[in-house]
Amino acid sequence: MAADEPLVLGIETSCDETGVGIVRGTTLLADAVASSVDTHARFGGVVPEIASRAHLEAMVPTIERALKEAGVSARDLDGIAVTSGPGLAGALLVGVSAAKAYAYALGKPLYGVNHLASHICVDQLEHGPLPEPTMALLVSGGHSSLLLAPDITADVRPLGATIDDAAGEAFDKIARVLDLGFPGGPVIDRLAREGDPKAIAFPRGLTGPRDAPYDFSFSGLKTSVARWIEAKRAAGEEVPVRDVAASFQEAVVDVLTRKAVRACKDEGVDHLMIGGGVAANSRLRALAQERCERAGIRLRVPRPKLCTDNGAMVAALGAEMVARNRLPSDLELSADSSLPVTEPHVPGTAHTHAHDHDHVHEISKDNLYS
Ligand code: KG4
Ligand code: ZN
Repeated sequence: MAADEPLVLGIETSCDETGVGIVRGTTLLADAVASSVDTHARFGGVVPEIASRAHLEAMVPTIERALKEAGVSARDLDGIAVTSGPGLAGALLVGVSAAKAYAYALGKPLYGVNHLASHICVDQLEHGPLPEPTMALLVSGGHSSLLLAPDITADVRPLGATIDDAAGEAFDKIARVLDLGFPGGPVIDRLAREGDPKAIAFPRGLTGPRDAPYDFSFSGLKTSVARWIEAKRAAGEEVPVRDVAASFQEAVVDVLTRKAVRACKDEGVDHLMIGGGVAANSRLRALAQERCERAGIRLRVPRPKLCTDNGAMVAALGAEMVARNRLPSDLELSADSSLPVTEPHVPGTAHTHAHDHDHVHEISKDNLYS
């Protein structure tokens, strides 16, 4: 770890985890996460208002915990990065407001960064600098995309995406049908280990010869699994939960890995990065490894804790922005719940500065913690 690499704090509040990470260049120094997932569990999904309130309560203590864990002072930071989108608007706003307040108070540059690009960039903390271009399969609760990133700070190109449900959403919905609670991914992953992935032949969406090669569809699979379970219940038969979990999971990861490997081959990229909460899935990791090896592709997947939402990923992308001299964001930075994946960060207009006091005074009244 070189002392001249940028020291960056990253804040993530796009969904239900309040994440604060600190990195120096590509080295992870702290990864503090406070989750409100248990509070949402009884509603069967994330309740935006509850998430925002939990972020507000957790924000300052989590920042303090991260600084302590990293053993650095806020004054030594070279920048503050924050997820400015995509995500839940109210939840994002808490992180963005906090980041602005810290950036202004400390006189540090602010970087509003993209949540999806952060899920990719985090792998630098585990496996070193990303190759350029990087092929990334991004699979989370809100997104499933294949992305080609020649430069993760400035050039991210979508090759395909889900046309209906995201992969994580499908896990969460099937878990609900099986009464397994929320979030569904981890519990299906666990149960599937004891089930037979070949027990039930569930459909593989969008894999026909005339289908878009890099798009995904999981809603047909979801309906098919739900109907299968309903039929069993209607017949008074016991539902073989482990076999259903394993067969459903196999259908999802079969399509994800098949299309990702194909994209690498078509684009002549010899490595694949998998990121997002669903990348924590043990079967996805194993099958991707198997298929990549067979195709001569190097697989990069961060450890599970760095796959689900966290602040370290935001800090990782922020540090890359600093290292590449990308323009910081303005203090007018706002949360953008539908920030496109093609915008890795939200650059400011060069004429505003963190020390433009009158200007900032206005922002602090209107936006900070309001
Ligand atoms: O990236 P993430 O933490 O939040 C979003 O940005 O959406 O992803 C959360 C999603 C949830 O749908 C959750 O069920 C899924 O990731 N997930 C998993 C696993 N762990 C989390 N899905 C499958 N297997 C897992 N082990
Ligand atoms: Zn995420």
